[in-house]
Amino acid sequence: KIIPVIMAGGRGTRLWPLSRASAPKQFIQFVGDRTLFQATLTRLSDPELYEPPIVVTNEDFRFLVAEQARELGIHLTATLLEPVARNTAPAVAAAAAFVLERYGDDAVLQLLASDHEIEADERYFDAIRIARDTALTGKLVTFGISPSEPATGYGYIEIGEVLPAGAHSVRRFVEKPPLAEAQRMLAEGGFYWNSGIFMFTAGQLMREMETFAPEVAGAARQSVQKAVSDLDFIRLDAGAFSKSPDISIDYAIMEKTANAAVVPSSFVWSDLGSWDAVWKLGIRDEAGNVASGNATLVDTRNSLVMSRTSHLAVQGLENVAVIASEDAVYVGRLEDSQSVGKLVKQLAAAK
Ligand code: GDD
Ligand code: MG
Repeated sequence: KIIPVIMAGGRGTRLWPLSRASAPKQFIQFVGDRTLFQATLTRLSDPELYEPPIVVTNEDFRFLVAEQARELGIHLTATLLEPVARNTAPAVAAAAAFVLERYGDDAVLQLLASDHEIEADERYFDAIRIARDTALTGKLVTFGISPSEPATGYGYIEIGEVLPAGAHSVRRFVEKPPLAEAQRMLAEGGFYWNSGIFMFTAGQLMREMETFAPEVAGAARQSVQKAVSDLDFIRLDAGAFSKSPDISIDYAIMEKTANAAVVPSSFVWSDLGSWDAVWKLGIRDEAGNVASGNATLVDTRNSLVMSRTSHLAVQGLENVAVIASEDAVYVGRLEDSQSVGKLVKQLAAAK
């Protein structure tokens, strides 16, 4: 069976001010009656295919994780707690080291983000099965999404020859390319977006981590060896874990390995990572606006307007995001959505 590993430690700063340090985007309801984290758990609920999930997050979010899983009646195998956030490579390495100890080298992990909108239909589960079979041959498997625009917030995968289990080899993996390069890849063809879901065995992941990011691998292994359990929470050792460099799995391994594979996929997928993505996924009226909460729009087009509190009135604007939370308001152009994270850093520095 596949062991799901959910990464739920991101801060989601690009969705400020709805996504906050105390409750980032994966734990709040954007669309529908479930949080993105809960929707992720729901996709993993087939007991024939999956073991109960492992969640990797940090101290601050441990009760959100426990409470939201409990609400769905879902039992977790474990919740690994990072003492500090070091991006996804150390989070994955710790989970793989943990699984290696308990289940052995050949245990298949499915690594998932906790902030995606996915339609888990037959197409999705077909891709999952191909990926599992391919992972068992020692590959690091990704899922390729057909790109619809030269987005700069994703990894790009150049597809290679077909492999025995039905996936393809990866010629090149380019994480978050600059716009010009993304445009070139789109024009050239043969490229997919990296969905941010991965499949590999615990042993293979650790070997690749050892090769391309030995400091990450070492820190992870030690932090698991010295971890302290507290109910279902497993506290990774702070001294060991914090020695890890801050790097994502995409830069640490996927850009470097010769063992990457890709399953070209056609399931409905969206990374709700930024305001332009929320706007694209939302239900637009005739003027192209997506509005929620207490909002009135006049002479306004192709905009996203969301209010959690006070009445928002927007007049005469185009292509903007106006987002009001309980205590803060953001106004910006939708095309600047990728840099809201930088603005939040400045805000934090100004405090
Ligand atoms: N536990 C833990 N610790 N989780 C983390 C951390 C961390 O330090 N940092 C991020 N995460 C979680 C986030 O909550 C999210 O669920 C997932 O890891 C991915 O992180 P993002 O920060 O959202 O990554 P991204 O969207 O910029 O890029 C990744 O996903 C894209 C598709 O959505 C890359 O894999 C890209 O290549 C990919 O295209
Ligand atoms: Mg993301």
